[in-house]
Amino acid sequence: MTSNKQAQNEQNGSVNWEEVRSQFPILKQNIHSHKLVYLDSAATSQKPQCVIDAESKFYSSINAGVHRGAHELAARSTIAFEDARKTVARFFGADSGEGNEEIVVTSGATGGLNLLAAAFQYASMNRGGEKSKIFALKPGDEIAVTIAEHHSVLLPFQELAARTGAKLTWIEADKNGCISEESIENVICEKTKLVAFTHISNVTGVISPVEKIVKKAHSVGAFAILDACQSVAHIPVDLRELDADFAVFSAHKMYGPTGAGFLYGKRELLEALPPVNFGGSMVELAFIDKPAQYMLPPAKFEAGTQPVAQTVAAGEAVSWMKKVGAENIRTHEKTLVSRLLEIEDIPGVRILGPDGNSNAERIGTVAFDVEGVHPHDVGQYLDAQGVAIRVGHHCAQPIHRHFGVYASNRVSCGAYTNIEDIDIFIKALKNVRKFFAAG
Ligand code: ALA
Repeated sequence: MTSNKQAQNEQNGSVNWEEVRSQFPILKQNIHSHKLVYLDSAATSQKPQCVIDAESKFYSSINAGVHRGAHELAARSTIAFEDARKTVARFFGADSGEGNEEIVVTSGATGGLNLLAAAFQYASMNRGGEKSKIFALKPGDEIAVTIAEHHSVLLPFQELAARTGAKLTWIEADKNGCISEESIENVICEKTKLVAFTHISNVTGVISPVEKIVKKAHSVGAFAILDACQSVAHIPVDLRELDADFAVFSAHKMYGPTGAGFLYGKRELLEALPPVNFGGSMVELAFIDKPAQYMLPPAKFEAGTQPVAQTVAAGEAVSWMKKVGAENIRTHEKTLVSRLLEIEDIPGVRILGPDGNSNAERIGTVAFDVEGVHPHDVGQYLDAQGVAIRVGHHCAQPIHRHFGVYASNRVSCGAYTNIEDIDIFIKALKNVRKFFAAG
């Protein structure tokens, strides 16, 4: 796609989706002698050529340590790294105008969530200085999550609760897996000090009522932590507008490489939050006989050598999404998901989540159960026909229990998915029960 064409897309919403798809080299292959139909984007997205090239170019002409060294490569590397951070900050509405100190580079969303949980724990142990006391938890306090969390949100905060004596509470979902607004009101209370929740369920694909949860959290003085893993590549996200105090997301789910991710925090909160990892690049002054003085955010949270090449390529991925247009991607997925929901007409197939009649806001991620056929068998049957979906509990066991199953099948789309992919999948799915003599 030429840059002029891309700029046009951004302005008028007309995207040549086949041209977009053609930028993903991995999709040009056959699997088991069938055209590859990749429907596992919620696990990880595929990467456009420009992202692959950005990482390769970094290693072939830029590579050096950042924020250290006086040589030309060190300068180039630092500029590329900080430019990528700025690109991410701007695209997701986290550029304060004074710089990009609200975006911390992490290893991924899980890394960011564990960092936050550990920082709250240090604050609770009185290890973070006066300012960090706002994050301290004590027995009797509550940490709220939702039943729709994947384990990367649930487990760090469950562990934080256990380590501080706080109690873990959870917001329930209705029978379709949508977050219950009544439960938000009942669960978040004066005792709640922190609410950690998903922007979009990685199982149902449903968008959470972020505004309601954040408002309720703030009304009782609790911090709101948003897991934006499943949203940033699918819908427009403006972090400042959403008003969460912290947010996390991974590069690899938004057309970027594995190994890098981002933690957003409101500037004054990141300043008050204690560092968690210690080492080079995060310290202003270090002494042998007295405590060190740490740098300001984001450096304070980035000890050691950052995933520089991956961050630079993640910046390229964000620039690529900007050119295609986040709103365009959302519209494209709406078309795909309305075709996908036709699977509810296949005998024995049950969607785990809202069906086609619901007006729940969702992305192109749909989980389903096939009566009488284990998800692993469904997955293998489809794989034999070149169709890649995810099967299992998708690292989200509580919401599966909520639906009364241990595991499910999940289809998830990206900007490169087309209607032909969905039709090939549906055609194959129609034969599954017959193949396994289950219907
Ligand atoms: N949370 C990731 C998924 O849904 C791992 O596949």
